[in-house]
Amino acid sequence: MNKKEIIVSGIQPTGNLHIGNYLGAVKKWVELQNSGKYEMYIFIADLHALTGKMTADELRTQINKTCAELLAAGIDPKKTTFFVQSHIQEHAELAWIFNCVTPINELERMTQYKDKVAQFKNATAGLFTYPILQAADILLYHGDLVPVGQDQIQHVELTRDTARWFNNKYEQYFPETKHLLTPTPKIMSLLEPNKKMSKSLGQDHVIELSDEPEIIENKIKKAVTATEGGGVAPGVANLLVLIKEFGDQKTYEKFIQMEKDKTIRYGDLKKELGEAVGKYFSNFRTERAKLLRDEKKLTKIMSVGTKKAKKVAEKTMIDIRKIIGLK
Ligand code: TYM
Repeated sequence: MNKKEIIVSGIQPTGNLHIGNYLGAVKKWVELQNSGKYEMYIFIADLHALTGKMTADELRTQINKTCAELLAAGIDPKKTTFFVQSHIQEHAELAWIFNCVTPINELERMTQYKDKVAQFKNATAGLFTYPILQAADILLYHGDLVPVGQDQIQHVELTRDTARWFNNKYEQYFPETKHLLTPTPKIMSLLEPNKKMSKSLGQDHVIELSDEPEIIENKIKKAVTATEGGGVAPGVANLLVLIKEFGDQKTYEKFIQMEKDKTIRYGDLKKELGEAVGKYFSNFRTERAKLLRDEKKLTKIMSVGTKKAKKVAEKTMIDIRKIIGLK
């Protein structure tokens, strides 16, 4: 029997899941997991979150919440090795080794790094070497495929390069990792639809999976639809993508037709979309609340995932230490 392809992906515990995370990554993770065709590793990237500004208490709370949210969204720890990155120390160890094969100028090219450095004064070395840790996350488990949103493509390409740099310097060991996109790899902000939906823009720019229906409807009501120049305005295009994903096919086709005929009323689109999103995540909200009341269960699930991931990570590092001359 052929070996199953290995899928690895992660998410930072920096806030509640939003529909950008969901449509760009998490929904796909659940589909891939349920197909039974892959060996799956999904983790909470808490070490990456240290490059941000959270306090220790905020981070602790958010790791727990992200865990509950991913489970509520459909990650099944029986089918997926689901764990917290920092529980497996091998991530940091492999990252150091990759530091020593990665040219500085390749890191300087990373757009996410350049954006962050432009935003923050006194940017840390963590922001700079962030993609190296990401390469370690993926290659520690020999990841073939990495399902991510569009903003992470460059980091997955760097992972592929890292594997080559390592393989060329030492010996053929790591696979050539590829990214995997959803049909919706870049969901836009509700208020600034020329920017990627992101929590860092502010609460009203994003819809969180846990938002109550009234909140969702209100946020969508305020979404920008104004047209600049010809064609479909980016804000409208974004809302149409969302109704396609969260509404039924007929409703979507109805609005597409009306947009073409120019008979569309954005108020109607927003109303139907708001209701559809609220309904879509109704089970998620219930499940999330239940899990958050059961911290013991969350801890247990994470410790089982850690054990499974640890076995693979330890084996990789035994190989690596030999290959590079540390043993
Ligand atoms: P993070 O935590 O920013 O986002 C998690 C996933 O959500 C996707 N995403 C989006 N997709 C579509 N539209 C959006 N507006 C949107 N916003 C976010 C992201 O592309 C991502 O797939 N560096 C990673 C975490 C990470 C990782 C890894 C991922 C660490 N190690 C190894 C894959 C493999 C990050 O910060 O994602």
